[in-house]
Amino acid sequence: MSRIAYIDGRYQPLNQPAIMVEDRGYQFSDGVYEVCAIRNHRMLDEERHLDRLENSLNELAMPMPVSRAALKIITREVVRRNRVREGLVYVQVSRGVAPREHTYAANLQPVLVVTARPMAPERRTHIRQNGIEVLSVPDQRWARCDIKSISLLPNVLARQTAKLAGKQEAWQVGADGYVTEGGATNAWIVDSKGKLRTRPASKAILNGIVRQVLFDVAAELQLTVDETPFTLDEAKAAKECFSTASTMAVFPVIAIDGVQIGDGKPGPVATALGAAYDAVSAS
Ligand SMILES: Cc1ncc(COP(=O)(O)O)c(C=O)c1O
Repeated sequence: MSRIAYIDGRYQPLNQPAIMVEDRGYQFSDGVYEVCAIRNHRMLDEERHLDRLENSLNELAMPMPVSRAALKIITREVVRRNRVREGLVYVQVSRGVAPREHTYAANLQPVLVVTARPMAPERRTHIRQNGIEVLSVPDQRWARCDIKSISLLPNVLARQTAKLAGKQEAWQVGADGYVTEGGATNAWIVDSKGKLRTRPASKAILNGIVRQVLFDVAAELQLTVDETPFTLDEAKAAKECFSTASTMAVFPVIAIDGVQIGDGKPGPVATALGAAYDAVSAS
């Protein structure tokens, strides 16, 4: 079965040409996106993802391509047409099509693309049970990482560097020595004193939806989240480290730069948070 995408007003096979060469997303990375998990045919935390999409668009003075209600119908239809039970929805909005010129007219019609793909739940189980290894890299990104921009070159390079080193994620580190976040995940530790820590939301990181939901999940487990940035050295000396993102929710980190974290296995806090997150999202 050929995958079906929604591209600028039409449902069509994903492998057919559809994007204009002068789409500003293609030529300037002038656009934003969302990735949302699908569990049991349902989009997880849909309202939070739509809020963040609207926020990213606002920050770049771009209008919503269709109403919020229409966008929900389109994403559901793409999920249905691709028969995705467990997987991911990708929503991208570019500023629109115009002769190549850095500046733009205010009245451009944004281009909406929605795709969906399955992801076997076994992959999540495997990662939860085995954890991932992380490589630290310098954070080379811009000053508005809170906007979910499609301009991902530093993240691409970070993750590719990690991949070539045989690691599954890159944790980006600022010039001040503090970990900002992963290439496509937020970073968390249970520090050497047992405190659950993640960096506060600011322009330096994307405020992940799983990150937000995990605050509530942690509270249910009687855990307090301390929003204090941590250094790479603190992470390496931590009892536990983990990453969060919609793709897998919680990814336990078992080593950073080859330094074993804790006993080198997924830790109890990451495991409990992952299980509790799954339970909440299945309900
Ligand atoms: C840079 C970055 N940080 C964090 C996240 C996690 O965000 P979320 O939990 O909304 O998936 C992502 C997800 O793509 C990301 O790209």
